[in-house]
Amino acid sequence: MWFDELDSTNTYLKEKISSGALADPAGTAAAAKRQLKGRGRKARIWNSAEGENLTFSFVSKIREERKDISSITLTAGVAVCEVLRELGIEQAEIKWPNDILCEGRKICGILCETADCQGQTMAVCGIGLNINMTQQQLAKIDQPASSVYLETGICYRPEDLINTILEKMSFWFEIWLNEGFAAVKKRWEELAFGLGLKIDISEDGEILKTGLFRGITDHGALVLERKDNRIEHIYTGDVNWKL
Ligand code: BTN
Repeated sequence: MWFDELDSTNTYLKEKISSGALADPAGTAAAAKRQLKGRGRKARIWNSAEGENLTFSFVSKIREERKDISSITLTAGVAVCEVLRELGIEQAEIKWPNDILCEGRKICGILCETADCQGQTMAVCGIGLNINMTQQQLAKIDQPASSVYLETGICYRPEDLINTILEKMSFWFEIWLNEGFAAVKKRWEELAFGLGLKIDISEDGEILKTGLFRGITDHGALVLERKDNRIEHIYTGDVNWKL
């Protein structure tokens, strides 16, 4: 479904699923040319003006024993990162848990949430991909950012890219659903940013832990090696790389 304007494609699909308005929601996608209240992780705002971004959400089933929203976020990251690499953006890498970066500049953010569909949990995976933003527009964002245009010099229309990304998401979500995240993990680690490097884990700007980024578990938690070689699994938080 394409809309000229929505508050947020995630909010739209979550409401439709919860109200029972979509009889069989799995596989539904909603895209908006403009979002008025686009949301990021931790209630951050995701601004998107028309033509600059691809903003859409995709509904997937979650197997009852795998209600693990963090690993579906990572799986969506694999799909988007593979598409970017196929467009020639070889420098695209996944930053745990939900960003795609190009040499440290964010090009895509992912927000996966759940919605209840008559007793069954569904995942709503929202993707915000900077497509045509220029250097000048990107400079207004509060963190280093990039776009497909900046990386390739090519202007794509959002509708040119959505089908390729949806096909790739369907491919990887199918593997995730049938075999679990363990079957996606190797590809995630191949595409990951910063494996082996020193990182900080912070919450609300406060650094909680420091260590080496050793990979991820079969459920998508970040594996952190602390100073005394102790291994910890991190489920939430912001990661900063100490380059
Ligand atoms: C983040 O970087 O924190 C995640 C950003 C996710 C933004 C996308 S745009 C489409 C979908 N609808 C939303 O309101 N958010 C996601």
